[in-house]
Amino acid sequence: MSQRSQWGTRAGFILAAVGSAIGLGNIWRFPYVAYDNGGGAFFLPYLIALFTAGIPILIMEFIMGHKYGGSSPLTFSRLNKKSEYVGWLQVFISFGISTYYAVIIAWALAYSVYSFNLSWGENTGEFLMGSYLQAGEVGSVGGIVPSVFIPLVIVWAVVLAVLFKGVKKGIEAANKIFIPALVVLFLIIVLRAVTLEGAAQGLNAFFAPDWSQLGDPSVWTAAYTQIFFSLSICFAIMITYSSYLPKKSDLTNNAFITGLSNSGFELLAGIGVFSAIGFVAASTGNGIDDFAADGVGLAFAIFPQIINQMPFLNGLFGFMFFASLVLAGLSSLISISETYIAAFQEKFSISRTKAVAFGGGLSALISILYATKGGVHILTAVDRYVLTVGVGLSGLIEVILLAWVIRKVKDLQDHANGLSQIRLGSWWTICLTVITPILLGYMMIASLYSEFTAPYVDGYPLSLVGPWGMGALGLVIVAAAIFTKLKWKEGANHSANSN
Ligand code: PHE
Repeated sequence: MSQRSQWGTRAGFILAAVGSAIGLGNIWRFPYVAYDNGGGAFFLPYLIALFTAGIPILIMEFIMGHKYGGSSPLTFSRLNKKSEYVGWLQVFISFGISTYYAVIIAWALAYSVYSFNLSWGENTGEFLMGSYLQAGEVGSVGGIVPSVFIPLVIVWAVVLAVLFKGVKKGIEAANKIFIPALVVLFLIIVLRAVTLEGAAQGLNAFFAPDWSQLGDPSVWTAAYTQIFFSLSICFAIMITYSSYLPKKSDLTNNAFITGLSNSGFELLAGIGVFSAIGFVAASTGNGIDDFAADGVGLAFAIFPQIINQMPFLNGLFGFMFFASLVLAGLSSLISISETYIAAFQEKFSISRTKAVAFGGGLSALISILYATKGGVHILTAVDRYVLTVGVGLSGLIEVILLAWVIRKVKDLQDHANGLSQIRLGSWWTICLTVITPILLGYMMIASLYSEFTAPYVDGYPLSLVGPWGMGALGLVIVAAAIFTKLKWKEGANHSANSN
């Protein structure tokens, strides 16, 4: 029987967990979410969300993975036979995310090369949707777009190679390179951005507190959503990663280090992004609001404009920005993919190689769908549904299950307190059993309500979002049920992956 994989060092585990947490969400999501939800005032709900839900749940997932030593489905089934489904639900949400997360990294890879001669020209938005993605009409589907497909192949080649190599020699080794490189690159970017003309206006806009917004529940929802997404919690990831920890591990401490590093990086990204926006606003004589955006628009339409305007070595700055997106994205994609690789390995008692080839290979194949003409619209639809449920519902189910249905919070607390410097007290139990379920419950109801009263608009007709978005979500829910029903292969409960 093979020995279960383990991290080589504590730092290796922390780098991998931080690598998962720091992703596209930190760079392109956080700055705008903060700006849009009260600016400086947003830090209050954000910090409250971090300390009442983010870190407490991260601690809980670290303990679950460590105590029960399995992928998310195995961990849940060891907690209670009947709760295996929750593990599979998380795994298939992650699977769904991995199919399109890879594509966004591929775009960033292409753009890092485009930076050198500013291939996107003056009209960056038109270049993105037209020449580059060949998006066409919403709902149109066409052939493969080589400029997306080729970098996509490279992204998967790197990710699968890392995953084939295993936990210590693959994931840990990769993160030991990616994360320090990312931090250095990003520090240079931020230093350059804050010294640009107009950066101060950008930062003023970013930090200017609008306290009146804190009365609006949607600001609080935004804070909790950002924390869940950014910390990669309730996606099976942190459970899987902590299942590879050695017996003696200070779980609580590790969770604090991971959570605080992630938020530190997020703040740094906010400063860098808004300095750059301040610069482009000043140099074009426009307002900050003309450039403040998030997601694909910020990274692939606004940033190219910023890079166009920059005084010297702008190509290099552009390259570093997109390379940061690639590094941040890769380490997150590796963590998302490890969730189903570990789960398949254990459930079917197969080798890591087979699990990577099957699971990773399938996700890679599906991702080609988004590399077609019009594929970006499908990506948007799938992201919208899979992620909304991923962030809200799966967190709610996990917390309610542990705190109220199978009531394991006390057991988990004892486990961590036997190992950690920081003792978990009533702060932790109250957050998990009372505060988080109420807030997540409220969030879920509010988002369902808005789903029915104001169905997804933003230029996306229901005829597109419906079949693709709901279809993907339906597949996730059904696949989770099927995999729960399948029998564990003989020996699966004990053996696991070897390095
Ligand atoms: N936490 C990562 C980010 O901030 C992304 C992520 C989300 C990773 C969901 C896995 C699952 O971008």
